Amino acid sequence: MTIGVGVIGAGRIAQSAHLPAIAKCPHVRLVAVYDPSQELCTGVAQRHQTTPAASLEQLLADPSIEAVVVAVPDRLHLPIASAALRAGKHVLVEKPLASTVEECLELQARADEAGIVLQVGAMKRHDPGVRYAAEAVRERIGRVLSARIWYRVMSSLRSAVEATYFPPMIVDEQVRASEAAFKADRASYLLATHGAHVLDGLRFLLGEPIEVCARRASIAGDHSWHGIACLADGGLAGFEITASVHGEWSEGAEICGERGTVRLRTHFPVTLRPSDVEVFDEATSRIERPVFADSNPYRLQLDAFARSIRDGAPVEPDAADGLAVMRLLRAVGRSVDSGGAWVTT
Ligand SMILES: NC(=O)c1ccc[n+]([C@@H]2O[C@H](COP(=O)([O-])OP(=O)(O)OC[C@H]3O[C@@H](n4cnc5c(N)ncnc54)[C@H](O)[C@@H]3O)[C@@H](O)[C@H]2O)c1
Repeated sequence: MTIGVGVIGAGRIAQSAHLPAIAKCPHVRLVAVYDPSQELCTGVAQRHQTTPAASLEQLLADPSIEAVVVAVPDRLHLPIASAALRAGKHVLVEKPLASTVEECLELQARADEAGIVLQVGAMKRHDPGVRYAAEAVRERIGRVLSARIWYRVMSSLRSAVEATYFPPMIVDEQVRASEAAFKADRASYLLATHGAHVLDGLRFLLGEPIEVCARRASIAGDHSWHGIACLADGGLAGFEITASVHGEWSEGAEICGERGTVRLRTHFPVTLRPSDVEVFDEATSRIERPVFADSNPYRLQLDAFARSIRDGAPVEPDAADGLAVMRLLRAVGRSVDSGGAWVTT
């Protein structure tokens, strides 16, 4: 039995990633989409041969919809995901879980209360290269002494690369203009939207940091955060979030443990390529470079969502992970505001 899915929010990420992933995922079927923009709602529904819901309430009242993908701006994650949970729908909510630690706590409580699946759309965890690296760190290289994780968003190249990989997009210029106003505090927006990926990755690869410190540099509208995280076993991890660099996308990690090293290079997500991973094992003096064929992280996260709904598989990442990422984002912000002081997470 496939899972009937409704998509809430028919903007950029819904059109470029979720709807194509739903079309390819054998475990789910698209039942309806909803967006308050008529142009997006009807246009996207037509393109995907599905029903445009007249309202959020109508979509949530549809008994053939068992689960929803919430692809709306961050500030609406809490109210919309909560409404879906109240309606008994399983929820895959885009990252970050919500806008603040308090909102994340509230959403986590709602999910626990409802006893249904709430998964956060930190899809990089479902990239097979990232998963391979995380397992190698956990099982093979011993305690981590030193790690570096970076994420550099490209500037002018980005729109051309997106245009190359994205399906044709339906755009409502009014929605774009009104959303831009909510992103007016550019540094906060960039830290939340990109930092959510980096810090989820840091936790996934290295565990929960104990303390962080960070500084921010800003030049001509571009921002770069550099920080250090103290790891539970005593190691240190440097992290960088830069938006934007005037060059190519660059994202990766190098993790040095007691018995080996893991290197990861992650590609611009819309390419759907798996991360390249390299594991050096001191015991064998060999480097391993696995090859992955099935790598669309947005489809793989839907497969995982379906397994959690149908088979009770652990939810990954769950609301607790989303909350922990938001706590880290807050700690980074506080450290920056204090000029780089250590902040306990
Ligand atoms: N995982 C990723 O790779 C990734 C990438 C980009 C964005 N995101 C996340 O996805 C979310 C959406 O980002 P986006 O870039 O698609 O934004 P977007 O502005 O392009 O799309 C959001 C859509 O939500 C709609 N919307 C507004 N209010 C709504 C409501 N009450 N009910 C239903 N829809 C409503 C808007 O009309 C808009 O079409 C954000 O949380 C963002 O952080 C994730």
